[in-house]
Amino acid sequence: MPTTERLLIEPLAHAHAEGLVAALAHDSVGAYTGGPEVTTVEAQHERIDDLARGPDQPDERWLNFAVSRHVDGLVLGYVQATTYADWAEVAYVFGPATSGHGFATEAVQWLIGHLRSLGVHELWAAIHPDNGPSIRLIERVGFDVQPQLGRPVASYDEGDLVFRLDATRSAPTPG
Ligand SMILES: CC(C)(COP(=O)(O)OP(=O)(O)OC[C@H]1O[C@@H](n2cnc3c(N)ncnc32)[C@H](O)[C@@H]1OP(=O)(O)O)[C@@H](O)C(=O)NCCC(=O)NCCS
Repeated sequence: MPTTERLLIEPLAHAHAEGLVAALAHDSVGAYTGGPEVTTVEAQHERIDDLARGPDQPDERWLNFAVSRHVDGLVLGYVQATTYADWAEVAYVFGPATSGHGFATEAVQWLIGHLRSLGVHELWAAIHPDNGPSIRLIERVGFDVQPQLGRPVASYDEGDLVFRLDATRSAPTPG
């Protein structure tokens, strides 16, 4: 099972449903992503089923991982990527109760390495301009803001900032 220094990172499964709801059912979590996260365990199970069904497009792949803390198994959030032939877009959602310890940063760094291991080196993220924590995170892991959208990033909303990482470069050390 993939692990980092402090995290267990597993393909999203029904076993994570309760933990995800406990971690993410806060108003602040959906403030910049178009609405609240899933707030009931039942709805979370449905969402996990939907994601497991995968995309309709043949050249698209959805990767979804639940992130837990090694020390006690507490579910912290999730990281996800949609891969297209030779590029991907990434997203991540973590709960406020465990913010500020670098867990989300550590998980996104793992995701970048995982995508690199799959041969996907061009990564994009779209972020609301007021979402300071997310902008700081994406820049911390090595993405640079772009003057324009260079790929059809599905999570892009009008006015978002767009970030790109050339993952053939070595990743910066978190700080
Ligand atoms: C964006 C989001 C993932 C950030 O999560 P987080 O838990 O605050 O992230 P981290 O703990 O990795 O980083 C937070 C702080 O911890 C600090 N930190 C503490 N210890 C650290 C360590 N060991 N390594 C790295 N950073 C560390 C970081 O420097 C960072 O400080 P900053 O916010 O002042 O830059 C979270 O706010 C979130 O999920 N928001 C809602 C959903 C969302 O907006 N997702 C993004 C959509 S584009």
